[in-house]
Order: sequence, then C-alpha cells, then structure tokens
Amino acid sequence: MSNSGKVLGIIGGGQLGMMLTEAAKKFPDKISEVIVLDPTKGCPASKVGAKQIIADFKDEKAIIELATKSDILTYEIESGDSDVLKSIESKTMINPSPDTLKKIQDKLVQKTFLSENQLPVADFVEINSLDDLKQKIKKFGFPSLLKTRKDAYDGRGNFKINSHEDLILAYKQFNDQSMMLEKFIDFRMEVSVIAARNTQGEIATYPLVENIHEDNILRITIAPARVNKEIAKKAEQVAQKTMEVLKGAGVFGIEMFVTKNDQILINEIAPRVHNSGHHTLQSSKTSQFEQHIRAILGLSLGSTELLHPTIMYNILGPKNFKGEYKPVNIVPEKGVFLKMYGKKESNPKRKLGHLNVVDLDNSGNIDFLLNKLENIKKSIVIDPV
Ligand SMILES: Nc1ncnc2c1ncn2[C@@H]1O[C@H](COP(=O)(O)OP(=O)(O)O)[C@@H](O)[C@H]1O
Ligand SMILES: [Mg+2]
Repeated sequence: MSNSGKVLGIIGGGQLGMMLTEAAKKFPDKISEVIVLDPTKGCPASKVGAKQIIADFKDEKAIIELATKSDILTYEIESGDSDVLKSIESKTMINPSPDTLKKIQDKLVQKTFLSENQLPVADFVEINSLDDLKQKIKKFGFPSLLKTRKDAYDGRGNFKINSHEDLILAYKQFNDQSMMLEKFIDFRMEVSVIAARNTQGEIATYPLVENIHEDNILRITIAPARVNKEIAKKAEQVAQKTMEVLKGAGVFGIEMFVTKNDQILINEIAPRVHNSGHHTLQSSKTSQFEQHIRAILGLSLGSTELLHPTIMYNILGPKNFKGEYKPVNIVPEKGVFLKMYGKKESNPKRKLGHLNVVDLDNSGNIDFLLNKLENIKKSIVIDPV
C-alpha cells in the first residue's frame, strides 16, 4: 500500500472487517492503511493486514483513538454508540453517519421511521410494562413476537408468544431491556437486498436473494431468490426507496419477508455489509465489500450485476464443542470457493467461514447447486486439534 492514501478505521475486526480490509487493498492510491477496533487479539481483520486497537466496541476512549488515527471511519457492527460517534464527527468522516445509525440501531425507532416513510413493515407497538403487554397483545393476537429494541442478533432478542401462558415468561426474559411487540408474519420466504449509497447520493441495489435460517442463524443464501420477476422488482423498489430516505453512505443489508400473498415487508436493516451479500465475492461484478469502500470514499458505485447464480453456505461451529480446531480444507473443485475467517477457536454456532458454490456455466439450475452443496458439506468438518 502507498503512503499517499487515507487511513480507514473500522469498528469491528471480525469476518466483515476482514473482507473490507481485503477490498481496501484494491484501492492502494486511496487507502494506505486499515485500523480496526476489536476486543479479540488476532481478530480476522488483523490476519489480513489491518492494524488493531484491542478494546471493547463500546470503549469510548478507544473509539476516540481510532477516530483520531483515521481519515474515514466505518463499522461492521451496528451496536456502536451513535452518541459517541456523533461527538467525534468533527475529528473524522464517519459513514454511514451517526444520524443514520441512530435511526437503525433501535428497532422501534427504525420501524417507526420506515412506516412514517410509507415503507412496508409488520404491525408493531412499543411495550413499557407487563400490563402494557397484556393490553396490547389483544390487538395483535397469538402468535406475536416480543422483541428487544437494541443489540439483538441471531434471534436472541426475540420471544414468540403463543398463548396467554407465555406472557409473563416472555416479559421476564427481557425484563431489564426496552421492548416492542410485533405481529407474527407467517411468511413464505425470507429475502434480502444488499444496497449501496455513496456520499454523493448515488444508489445501487443488488438483485434479490433468498435466505434460509436455521435456529435463527443464516445458513444458506440463494442468489437470485426463487421468486417471480414482479416480487423481485417490488423488493428492489422497496430497497431503493429505503436508501433514499435513510440517506447514509455505505452498503446496507435490508432483510425482508415475502408474505403468502406476495407482499414485501421489511424485517430489519443492517447499516453495514451483510452476511447475505457474501455470495457477491464470486457471483457479482462488484463485491459488497468493494462497493462499501467505493460508497464511503465517494467513488462511483460498481456494477451490481449478478454474473452467476450462486449459493452461499455458512460454516458454523458445531453444537457440542468449544476450542481450537484443525484447518478446514476441501478438494479443489470448479466453481467452489471456500473462505475461512482465521478464527482460532470454534464456539457453538460461531461463524467460522463460508462456502460459495457458483454456477459458472450459468445453467440456472439452483437444485443442481443445492445438490452439489450437499455433497461438499459432508467433507467440511470442524475437528478439535
Ligand atoms: N414479525 C415476524 N414474524 C415472523 N418471524 C419473524 C418476525 N420478525 C423476525 N422473525 C424471524 O426471526 C428472525 C430474527 O429476527 P430479527 O428481527 O431479524 O432479529 P435479529 O436481530 O436477531 O436478526 C428473522 O430472520 C425471522 O426468521
Ligand atoms: Mg435479522
């Protein structure tokens, strides 16, 4: 990397920070160095050349240190303190902006913002006490979802209330946190759009993809989603409008439901590169990571064209094992790309890597790709050292 470029600071140095660091290397004249803030020594980003400040994501002093050292600041997690970021906006350029982050990181604020902008979301309401919940559930009926407003991931902030008996249990589970109630959507499919907006306001959306979750964790992404053209178009329009009203610069992951009567509802927005966009590394003209760098640098956005149908499969830590594991290798095969994140230890359900199975011949046969994945999956084992 050359000395003329800018220093890019990233809050979070996990796999997203790692792939952003790798993408930054494509712009040696623009970015001379990447520094990440991450609590884990030897985090994935540090293994591909990023410098690291070892501290908690919410450590105010460390965030200020990162901001002072960086010309541009971005993040791979949405739980950063938007007020702290707001207070250092004068020190460095932050994208997406703290104002945009603030609209997103509290799910109640986010959904209120979306519905005020006529964007489709499931019915929701704020919950302030157990009595409040008992009253409001009457309007929503069973099942409904009680959700924590902040810091939720992998479904841990959700409680499905199936009957009156669940009410107290659900409320107690999140007792010390702020909550909201949401209508349960019996969806047909979960989908997402990766969308980008650069600092000049140029917007680009990637084609709609289909997401399959297991135990609330993304397991498989199918690009493109197996829906008809009208649904894909509707979802991309929703994503486009979302980006227009949100205004922040960067790549965003917009998770949605396709309902049984083909409506699109936004489930949630991530103000960062997203797991359901990992396929773009091989499937698309521009990866989501390169696109994010372009967006925050104010460069023109790259083409979002999907060159090849692709399936992304998350490699997760097995359930009953915690500790160091043997290197994962697969027999080289055309159209199969393994990406491990260099995490030393496996934990149950921890994201250790991903596999992209790419239809290089553009046969368009998703079942063939799924079968191919089934076979390769068997050879991926996480074994203790
Ligand atoms: N209103 C809803 N109706 C039905 N399922 C939902 C609803 N909201 C969330 N879910 C399910 O729970 C999963 C996790 O919820 P989400 O709000 O995305 O939380 P997280 O922040 O943990 O990702 C979603 O991917 C979806 O499968
Ligand atoms: Mg989610």
